[in-house]
Amino acid sequence: MVETYNDKVVKQFTVMTVIWGIVGMLVGVFIAAQLAWPWLNFDIPWLSYGRLRPLHTNAVIFAFGGSGLFATSYYIVQRTCHARLFSDALAAFTFWGWQAVIVAVAITFPLGITQSKEYAETEWPIDILITLVWVAYGVVFFGTIAKRKIAHIYVANWFFAAYIITIALLHIVNNLSLPVSMSKSYVIYSGAVDAMVQWWYGHNAVGFFLTAGFLGMMYYFVPKQAGRPVYSYRLSIVHFWALIAIYMWAGPHHLHYTALPDWAQSLGMVFSLILLAPSWGGMINGMMTLSGAWHKLRTDPILRFMIVSLSFYGMSTFEGPMMSIKTVNALSHYTDWTIGHVHSGALGWVAMITIGCVYSLYPRLLKLPGMFSTKAIEVHFWVMTIGVVLYIASMWIAGVMQGLMWRATNADGTLAYTFVESLKATYPYYYVRFLGGLLVLSGMFIMLWNMWRTAQMARDTAPVAVPAPAHA
Ligand code: HEM
Ligand code: HEM
Repeated sequence: MVETYNDKVVKQFTVMTVIWGIVGMLVGVFIAAQLAWPWLNFDIPWLSYGRLRPLHTNAVIFAFGGSGLFATSYYIVQRTCHARLFSDALAAFTFWGWQAVIVAVAITFPLGITQSKEYAETEWPIDILITLVWVAYGVVFFGTIAKRKIAHIYVANWFFAAYIITIALLHIVNNLSLPVSMSKSYVIYSGAVDAMVQWWYGHNAVGFFLTAGFLGMMYYFVPKQAGRPVYSYRLSIVHFWALIAIYMWAGPHHLHYTALPDWAQSLGMVFSLILLAPSWGGMINGMMTLSGAWHKLRTDPILRFMIVSLSFYGMSTFEGPMMSIKTVNALSHYTDWTIGHVHSGALGWVAMITIGCVYSLYPRLLKLPGMFSTKAIEVHFWVMTIGVVLYIASMWIAGVMQGLMWRATNADGTLAYTFVESLKATYPYYYVRFLGGLLVLSGMFIMLWNMWRTAQMARDTAPVAVPAPAHA
């Protein structure tokens, strides 16, 4: 019998979310250790910091975050449209194609094969594979929306739709290049235009990959887990349109005080400041969904993951607009403050909402009332929260200290500190960040164990198929 929904592909992506989360964070912990103890480069080129750093960013964003987005969007679109995925074969292609992309990244980056564009390092053959997978993803997602059995399109799907369309556009425009061999190509843009296209891509990758898609997750799973409707459906629509209209223009805040025209930098700054409003609208909408059910936070660690992730979302989308103010950016740029901001968004918001949603989704996929151990989720929550706080607090302090040391001058106008002095002063914070990362990573192992035991539980409780009697 064909099941109503295609949950096979959802299950595959869900398991890979956790596996890639562990791999990506393991590389993150390793490069954090390299910054604290540089001899860990071992003088081996493929273990060098410059090659492993992009491996970390791609593994956590596209492998961990991406698999989480595929899993939840496929799950949500089927439930909210009352329709099976448009095509099982294409959905399977997106799974295997995406895994092939990740494996190709894991091989080529350590070998030093890269386009040298941040978050778009993959060389052209991999870019083409990404495009094919993404087009298939779009066909599956929009095909399912087209065959929906209910007229209304739930707001989570709007966020997923915007993320799928925008990522296709960003990926293609930013990666236009001339190949000269299988492993080398030259991007068609040059100079300030190249920088602008790259950060139009980079910032919207944050806005649409690391934010819009995860808001889609949030709008479905927070109400589900809280057992309450979204606080304000009207606000969610305003949130959606305002967010997608404003994000597109904020990219130049990555290029303050560069060769980019001054007016473009100021435009980026102004749009970044305006972006605070829709971001907080979304955060408040998610949080207030709990009104009347706040007591559930005491007993449900999954809900706690979700609500704390929303607090980090609020924090990072307050900090971002502040950092986009030119005079603030003059202090924060090039320092570890940026790294603190990145991880309050990436670990606090993206990873925590994903983890919360996977805990909520996984038992549903296995037709179980809940995960094997709620206690283990509770432990994971605390280990991760402490880890994230150690990570971002240490980087904030290190960043502000670096910025102040670099601009300090003596009475005669000479620099008060050499660069190496600022580096030496940063070491204690690198140790604390390493410890924070280690805690976050250990939480992921607790999660994997819990999922393993939950799968075992599902196998043990599954009804045993009784063979039909021979004479029947
Ligand atoms: C155990 C958890 C993690 C650890 C220990 C870790 C560690 C690091 C380190 C050491 C860097 C390089 C910083 C530098 O160059 O100064 C970095 C960069 C980065 N990480 Fe992580 N990370 C973790 C999790 C994540 C997650 C889950 C995401 C995304 C979902 C993420 C996204 C990024 C990004 C985007 C950058 C580049 C930032 C920039 O260029 O400004 N990280 N991470
Ligand atoms: C209103 C929302 C936000 C605004 C206005 C904003 C603004 C900024 C600014 C001004 C920078 C520093 C640019 C520089 O000096 O180089 C930055 C860096 C960054 N932000 Fe945000 N941010 C926002 C939200 C977020 C969120 C939610 C995330 C993650 C989920 C995030 C991820 C990043 C990353 C990865 C970078 C580093 C890019 C790089 O240089 O590699 N941001 N952001």
